Amino acid sequence: MKTRITNIREIVTPVGSRVAVGADMDKLSVLTHSDIILSDGNIESVIPRNQEEQGIKHVIDAEGAVILPAFVDPHTHLVFGGTREDEFNLRIRGKKYMEIARMGGGINSTVRATRSESEDTLFEHAVRNLRDMVAHGTATFEIKSGYGLETETELKQLRVIKRLQESEPVDIKATFLGAHEIPPEYQGRKKDYVNLVCEDMLPAVKEQGIAEYCDIFCETGVFDIDDSRKILNRAKELGFKLRIHADELTPLGGGELAGELGAASADHLVHVTKAGIAKMVQAGVVFVMLPGTTFFLMSDKFAPAGKILEAGGILALSTDFNPGSSYTHSMPMVITIACLRMGLTIEQGINAATLNGAYSLGLQNVTGSIHPGKQADLIFLDAPSYKFLVYNFGVNRIRAVMKKGQLIYQKA
Ligand code: NIG
Ligand code: FE
Repeated sequence: MKTRITNIREIVTPVGSRVAVGADMDKLSVLTHSDIILSDGNIESVIPRNQEEQGIKHVIDAEGAVILPAFVDPHTHLVFGGTREDEFNLRIRGKKYMEIARMGGGINSTVRATRSESEDTLFEHAVRNLRDMVAHGTATFEIKSGYGLETETELKQLRVIKRLQESEPVDIKATFLGAHEIPPEYQGRKKDYVNLVCEDMLPAVKEQGIAEYCDIFCETGVFDIDDSRKILNRAKELGFKLRIHADELTPLGGGELAGELGAASADHLVHVTKAGIAKMVQAGVVFVMLPGTTFFLMSDKFAPAGKILEAGGILALSTDFNPGSSYTHSMPMVITIACLRMGLTIEQGINAATLNGAYSLGLQNVTGSIHPGKQADLIFLDAPSYKFLVYNFGVNRIRAVMKKGQLIYQKA
């Protein structure tokens, strides 16, 4: 089935089809007077508007929209019970994220809610959040567990992710994050919890085949470098690929560890060291930046995106969508924050939010740019140019989202 998308203001895409690094990061290809030809949900070609094409069965009028690749969000905690809006107020009044966690709030309060909610209720909430993210242009996701912190509830969260994979018209990669926090019943017995993750949870997740990646919150007061190395090595041994919450609040050395273990990504990296950057670049680990989290946690210290780019790092952007440290569905908002607070250009922001996110999930041959052979995963933007995606902050200018050639969201 061949489809022609016509009447497009601009077709905007990363220049390369695999990954954007170095000078390419600051480039986008912008074509006008051109149409996109789709064949069976894939991009077949981009041709001049006045060129004839045989065998077209269906024409989509873009009505002057700007078309970009749909976003790839490589770091979300989309499946959770409850919400934490009261912590938002506490933080405004001066309480720190980790202080709230020590008071029994934070991740462990979401753990309580996630343990008590039924699988169906968790699923219904997750569907709603996922569709809100689709409405903001995201069509490919990574989703983590990590609010169970006991084998059965971690598996319950992963089953919800599996149901989302089966029911929602998007691509989803699942990540096991059993080492997200030390659960209350293991307070003072961290080593026992690390053993539970290694000897009970990881083998159970492996056996069910419901997660491709293993992640960990490597942070002062949570899992230190030795714990993280132990868990991640065990995961690797079982065949999981690795992601890691690294150097978010303190410079603990998570970046170095990610390089050492050859992780797919290390994420946050606000406090990553020079040595950490060098090791990650050398090992080809993707730097997933979450500036929405820094913004939401009211910090002025953002990840050193400039240094990472200078060192030749592969930089991706993500929402970190979760109820505590980043309650946003919007990749455009994250790009705007990345530009204003980390100094990315609009072009670097778009490359990071599309192609490099796909690369971090091993999906660079499938999505993340507008190149022949890739899925037609596209955003229709209601704007005079692609720059308005970022420049016009805090509003949703996305008119429609297409996944594999099907419109999966259209503004009412
Ligand atoms: O990526 N840093 C740890 N994990 C999440 C926060 C989760 C939460 O607060 O519920 C993050 O920011
Ligand atoms: Fe996170």
